[in-house]
Amino acid sequence: MPRIALLDSGIGGLSVLQAIKQQIPNASILYFADHAYSPYGNKDTLWLNHHIVQLVSALNQQHKLDAIVIACNTASTLCLAQLRQCINTPIIGVVPAVKTAANLTKNQSIGVLATPTTIHGEYLKSLISDFAHQCQITKVASTELVSLAEKKLNKQPIEQKTIAHIIEPLIKSRCDYVVLGCTHFPHLKPELTALAAHINWIDSADAIAKRCISLLEDTHIENNHQTPKPHMSFYSSAQINNGLHLTLTEFGFTHIQANVQLYDVQLNSVHS
Ligand code: DGL
Repeated sequence: MPRIALLDSGIGGLSVLQAIKQQIPNASILYFADHAYSPYGNKDTLWLNHHIVQLVSALNQQHKLDAIVIACNTASTLCLAQLRQCINTPIIGVVPAVKTAANLTKNQSIGVLATPTTIHGEYLKSLISDFAHQCQITKVASTELVSLAEKKLNKQPIEQKTIAHIIEPLIKSRCDYVVLGCTHFPHLKPELTALAAHINWIDSADAIAKRCISLLEDTHIENNHQTPKPHMSFYSSAQINNGLHLTLTEFGFTHIQANVQLYDVQLNSVHS
């Protein structure tokens, strides 16, 4: 039975978890939501880089894991290479599906909706120049959408008109494919589709689940052995309210723990 950890600033990575559980139902899951420092996408990048490396190292030391999924585009685009250098467990990153969108677009106009750090980062720049240089790209950075996704999974009402305002540039530029370059955003797919049904809103979750399968095969980790109940543990670095607790049980988590600190965080210059 493979043991897979997922890490995100919050509930975004649950969109990746869904695809992993669909394709690897016997995987035991350890999910770490770093709610105490959420959102990641507007933090000072030096601080964030250091913080994520510390977090993932601590997670790796404290648990026996077969794979770690950085279920966050912001963290992956910022420090995937560094994480792979200093951690011996296989690491899978989630990065914006620009290549897929560039292959599928009919009108060569694609959009990327992500956090400010991902939108302005070097990683996205090189993804675009490597795979989508022939396309017109509309980039939209939003931290507000991250909060709206958190609210939704906390079972609080969210305003459709706020989302409409954020995605206006994508509608105006007639994109036929928009990359959801933040793992929080697939949670808002019903709202996005209701506002713009003509746009194909795509994300990387299925590709990540496939990558997990091939990695487990490569490393010869038994993936076909059926156990009665794989472990499903959720940890957050902050408080968890009742709405989120309910959502987590719907996602199949049986062990939920709040206020978990994996290492002693220094709070200098958190904000950019
Ligand atoms: N879910 C994350 C991502 O994919 C982080 C969002 C945030 O905390 O800003 O980028």
